[in-house]
Amino acid sequence: MEENRKLYSAVQPTNNLTIGNYAGAVKNFVALQNDYDCFYAIANMHAITVRQEPAELRKRTLALAALYIACGIDPDKCVLYVQSHVSAHAELCWVLNTFTYVGEMERMTQFKDKSRKHADNINMGLMDYPVLMAADILLYQARFVPVGQDQRQHLEISRDIAQRFNNAYSPTFTVPEGIYMKAGAKIGDLSDPAKKMSKSAENANGSVFLTDDRDTVIRKFKRAVTDSLSCVKYDPENQPGVSNLLSIYSVFANKSVAEAEKEFEGVGYGDFKLAVGETVADMLAPIQSEQARLLQDKAYLDGVLKSGAEKARYVANKTLAKVYKKIGFYGV
Ligand code: TRP
Repeated sequence: MEENRKLYSAVQPTNNLTIGNYAGAVKNFVALQNDYDCFYAIANMHAITVRQEPAELRKRTLALAALYIACGIDPDKCVLYVQSHVSAHAELCWVLNTFTYVGEMERMTQFKDKSRKHADNINMGLMDYPVLMAADILLYQARFVPVGQDQRQHLEISRDIAQRFNNAYSPTFTVPEGIYMKAGAKIGDLSDPAKKMSKSAENANGSVFLTDDRDTVIRKFKRAVTDSLSCVKYDPENQPGVSNLLSIYSVFANKSVAEAEKEFEGVGYGDFKLAVGETVADMLAPIQSEQARLLQDKAYLDGVLKSGAEKARYVANKTLAKVYKKIGFYGV
């Protein structure tokens, strides 16, 4: 049999992406597309587990598609699609719900966090979020799933659900393996580097968004916290702020951290922060202008998403048909 090189990942079209999301997800998606059969989804069904403004959700969905492409995702090399365009996600999720225990969903860290954050709207979808994610992955028989560390628990449950189903019937699903991306996980908030740079941070100065203009990017880097040691060294324990800036620089300048350290030897923090800011801004400028250009060409984007949905549907429906047959759904 042919080796399974299928890879699946998704990003929610919620807040604007940060440079941490870029380093941890999108940049890797681009690198992986040459070596794997990649499926990249825009997870709008996951997004509605917390309340979204409809017009905004629609807009962000298209903007994320344009961003993926602007960052170098090639729709001819991988399947780029919107989750809600493939109804099999909801359908498989329903079946998998019957192989998932309420208790294990209640114990999910992200569910507990989000329940605290959205105490007025602890809806069933929020609790079911990991099962929908399992459906996403299992529909495509994906073997590899590149995600951030924060998704590790969700990936583990996807594996458990796949194994449970396979054991109850016969081998049906590929049991997926997580590829845990380090780069993004390492990017911390500029004003509080111990915290991960987040799309929804309270302090907007700590997160650099892919949509930030040059002046904003540079201003945020100028304000980044450092320390009083006055030397640019990678030492996350004693110099978390400086180390975070070095990590960011290494990702955006495509250099190793050691090379970056060397480059900034003897350089003052002010100049160092400015250099990092300029490097990030230089890197973002062409992505932003390409994204803007693509957003002017809605017909092209719609075409990409339509053909992506068709390709995705074909693969997904094959798995769904197998599942329906195994569980005893009467077919005509
Ligand atoms: N939950 C993921 C996140 O927030 C997004 C996601 C949805 C996903 N479905 C997926 C990631 C399937 C990997 C595979 O990052």
